[in-house]
Amino acid sequence: MFYFTLTNPEAEDLLKEEIMLSYPNLRLSYSRPGFLTFKADKEVNFSPVFCRVSGVCVGKFPKEELNYARAWVWKREESLSIPSDLKELSEKTNFRPGEKVTLIMMVGPDEYWVGEYTMKPTHFQTPGEVSSILETESPSRAYYKIAEAAEAFDLPFDHGEIVLELGSAPGGATQFLLEQDMKVYGVDPADMDAKIVKHVNFRHYRMPFEHITKDTFKQDIDWVISDVNLPPTVVMKEVVRLHEFMEPMGLVLTLKINDSKHLRLLWNFMDDIVALGYERYALKYLPSHRQELCLVALR
Ligand SMILES: C[S@@+](CC[C@H](N)C(=O)[O-])C[C@H]1O[C@@H](n2cnc3c(N)ncnc32)[C@H](O)[C@@H]1O
Repeated sequence: MFYFTLTNPEAEDLLKEEIMLSYPNLRLSYSRPGFLTFKADKEVNFSPVFCRVSGVCVGKFPKEELNYARAWVWKREESLSIPSDLKELSEKTNFRPGEKVTLIMMVGPDEYWVGEYTMKPTHFQTPGEVSSILETESPSRAYYKIAEAAEAFDLPFDHGEIVLELGSAPGGATQFLLEQDMKVYGVDPADMDAKIVKHVNFRHYRMPFEHITKDTFKQDIDWVISDVNLPPTVVMKEVVRLHEFMEPMGLVLTLKINDSKHLRLLWNFMDDIVALGYERYALKYLPSHRQELCLVALR
């Protein structure tokens, strides 16, 4: 069997480690930056987490054999130009959850690979799972991370809800949450962007999240969001501690996975989430991610 993955360059090593751990019978095959294929002697349920998308690799084809009625076309580099007929085909094609996606991957000039995967509700409606979030002026890349998580998981963010944002500076994610008309309590020892500080629905708690106590906030917290750049073990420990005195309806945690030893702990983190009473939870590598993962949990 032959499988493909599309990932971001920063996550390639983590993806390879994940494959070694979770799919020991797979071996790395043809690869280009961002496009990695793997071979196995027998079929596996291939769904690694450190990639934007993965599936069965049908193979490499000359352009004249790409006669599909419906297909998406993804190009590996901005500098590549998709032939106009393939571009038209891709632009007129849509896939719904549950449908089999045919993805033509333009890996180099005149180098076309075809892959197939089943569209999940958490997939983006874009070829190669590139971000569908429009470019926006914001204090940081975290704007895209939370916007992509909200779209992929269809997060039921509602106006007036209170978000406790751990690691909020300089305020990209806060900007997105304020745009949703939510109230944000940002906990971070670092400075917030001046535009965010001025916003009537934002309050800055300039301290490490370890200092939050049951008396810190006067109102109930609806969501806990974290983008703290500390090891995921530290973040999870604090998130568990916060649940001693708050009961949010949802969590959106960015877990920074800089060390492969944290890969092995991901399933322990899921056990923590279940023990906190969350019924639905998932991990997703978002288009704007580097060496990190989004953990979403909902009651
Ligand atoms: C990736 S940045 C966060 C980006 C931010 N979410 C945004 O939207 O712009 C990580 C942040 O974690 C903060 N941080 C590190 N240790 C912390 C701690 N113990 N408590 C709270 N924040 C912490 C850092 O000060 C830094 O601002």
